[in-house]
Amino acid sequence: MPAQSALSDAAERAMRSTLLTLSHRKSLGRLATQLPVTRPLVRRFICGETLDEALPTIRNLHEQGMGTTVDVLGESVSVETDARAAAARYVGVLDALAVTELDRNVSLKPTQMGLGIDAALARETIGSIVAKAVETGAFIRIDMEDHTTTDSTLALWRDIRPSAGTGADVGVVIQAALRRSDADIEAIIEAGGRVRLCKGAYKEPASVAFQEKAEVDAAYERQMLRLIRAGNYPALATHDVRLIRRAIEVARAEDIAPDRFEFQMLYGIRRDIQEQLVGAGWRVRTYVPFGSQWYPYFMRRLAERPANVSFILRNLWRERGRG
Ligand code: FDA
Repeated sequence: MPAQSALSDAAERAMRSTLLTLSHRKSLGRLATQLPVTRPLVRRFICGETLDEALPTIRNLHEQGMGTTVDVLGESVSVETDARAAAARYVGVLDALAVTELDRNVSLKPTQMGLGIDAALARETIGSIVAKAVETGAFIRIDMEDHTTTDSTLALWRDIRPSAGTGADVGVVIQAALRRSDADIEAIIEAGGRVRLCKGAYKEPASVAFQEKAEVDAAYERQMLRLIRAGNYPALATHDVRLIRRAIEVARAEDIAPDRFEFQMLYGIRRDIQEQLVGAGWRVRTYVPFGSQWYPYFMRRLAERPANVSFILRNLWRERGRG
C-alpha cells in the first residue's frame, strides 16, 4: 500500500473511532440536541422530530415504490419509565400507520425498551408492541446493538415471536462484522426467522469482530448469499454497490425471484441507488428514523463516512458567517 494511502486509511480509522466514542457521551448529546444550529444538519439523516413530521416522508417513499420501516429514535435508557414511554410511542406509531394505511413496519432498539435495566422489562415492553402488531398485522424488527447485547437480544427475539398465522412477525438483525454471525445465521434459518443482514455500526474489539473492511465485506457476501438461497425473506441492508450487484447477479443466475428478499437502506443515504433498484423491479425498504433522541444515531452515520464530517463543518462555517 502506498504510504499516503496507508496514512489516510489510518486517519479515517482514527476519526471513525473518535466519532463512535463520542456517540456514547450523553452530555454532548444533550448539548447537540439543544443547539438550533444542528437541526438543519441532522435533517439529512433524520426525517423530523415528531411522527407528524415523518408521515409525509413515509407517504412520499411509498409513492415512489419503496417500503418503509419506522424507527422512533432512542437507546440505552436507564430508567424504567423511559422504557415504558418508548414502548407506548411505538404502539401509537403502529396505530397511526394503520389508520393512515401506511406500511406497518417498525424497527426498535432493545436498550430503548429497557434491556440494559432488566431483560424481563424488555420482554414486557416489546411484548406490548408485539400485541399491537398482532392486532394491526404489523412487522417488528429488533435492531442489533453492540456485541454485549447479542445473546440477550437473540434470546428476547426467540421469546417474543408471535405464533405463526397471527399476521404479525418479529425479525432480528445480524452484523456481518461479528465473528459469531455465520453460526447465528444458521440457527435463525433453522428456526424460520427473518434476518436483516448489515455490516455492523458499532466499535467492537478484535476478539469478537473483524477489524479490516475487506474481512467484513467478505463475511457479508458469504452470509448474504446463504440467506438469499436459504433464508426466510431476508433483508439485505447495505449501500455497498458491489454487494448489491453481487446479490442481483446471483438471484438472476439462480432464478431467485425479486419477491424472495428485499434491499434495505437508510433514509438520506444513496437515494439514487434506492430509486434505480425500484425502477429495475427489486424490492427496497427505507429505514426512516424520527424523534428528538437523534444524537447517537447521527454520530454513527458520521462515523460510517468521515467525509460527512466535512459536510457538517462546511455548513457550520456558513452558519457562523451569517451569525
Ligand atoms: P459501507 O460502510 O462499506 O458503505 C458503502 C457505501 O455506502 C459508502 O461508500 C457510501 O457511498 C455509502 N454510505 C454508507 N454509509 C454512509 C453514510 N453514513 N453516509 C453517507 N454515505 C454512506 N447496524 C447495526 O449495527 N445494527 C442494526 O440494527 C442496523 N440496522 C440497519 C438497518 C438498515 C436498513 C441499514 C441500511 C443499516 C443498518 N445498520 C445497522 C448500519 C450498518 O451496520 C452499517 O453501519 C451501514 O449500513 C454502513 O454500511 P454499508 O453496508 O452501507 O457499507
